[in-house]
Amino acid sequence: MNTDRPAAIPLLAAGAVTAALPGIEPIERPPATGFYLDARPQGLTLQHAETVDRDSGLCIDLLDGSIERRLAGGRKSPLARALGLKRRSRPTVLDTTCGLGRDSATLAALGCDVHALERHPVLFALLDDALMRARRADTPPAWLTHWQAFEHADAHAWLTPPPPRRFDIIYIDPMFAAARRKARPQKALAWLNELIGTDHDADALLALARGHALRQTVVKQHARSQPLAAPDRQVHGKAVRFDIYLAASPPAG
Ligand SMILES: C[S@@+](CC[C@H](N)C(=O)[O-])C[C@H]1O[C@@H](n2cnc3c(N)ncnc32)[C@H](O)[C@@H]1O
Repeated sequence: MNTDRPAAIPLLAAGAVTAALPGIEPIERPPATGFYLDARPQGLTLQHAETVDRDSGLCIDLLDGSIERRLAGGRKSPLARALGLKRRSRPTVLDTTCGLGRDSATLAALGCDVHALERHPVLFALLDDALMRARRADTPPAWLTHWQAFEHADAHAWLTPPPPRRFDIIYIDPMFAAARRKARPQKALAWLNELIGTDHDADALLALARGHALRQTVVKQHARSQPLAAPDRQVHGKAVRFDIYLAASPPAG
């Protein structure tokens, strides 16, 4: 993680946030510099003090149709192929790097039973809030029933010592050093790079995951980046690549 950021992120509570969020301190007015969380009526929003447009910001919306759009390729999509999803298969997946929750939600919508972890307090708070809003919607999405758990935890600590429950698939999608690209990254991505930085410990997480996954560990990478370790298989998408590490002796079936 990026260790230069402040220890706590300010939260402009405005009386709307009920739960005490770890690593986050209440404030009464927007700070002069840096990131802060704003508890707005539409949902918890990450804002930057130097942003001119105060109505903009990063608020996760799991009901905006983006998950359904990601399902367009169904089980033929690179993500589904990387996880080896077959018709009616319903593997258990530990998403160790849940982030904005898009992959977890997509996997749940594809029928996987998902248990997700996120260690950064801001990402955890934003997504926890989005999940709460999705659950309270008039018509909650059907895939929510497959998203079984979301925890504020570092996957290294969570897997050490190994928990009694094992998962068919462990999924890792770490933050990588910003790739050189022609186009400016989307604001959400640029902010996450600034807030979280690079997950330099992803190779240690892969080593840990490989000893735990019953079937396979899948690492999502930028299409042109080096694998964390030599994979058994790869699935290529447009901009990303999935590196697949098979368990030494996967269970039959
Ligand atoms: C690239 S983002 C993941 C994006 C996510 N797959 C999605 O679909 O939105 C990486 C996230 O993993 C989190 N992360 C990285 N290493 C972690 C670890 N060891 N334990 C828990 N969370 C981790 C980071 O804080 C960051 O939010």
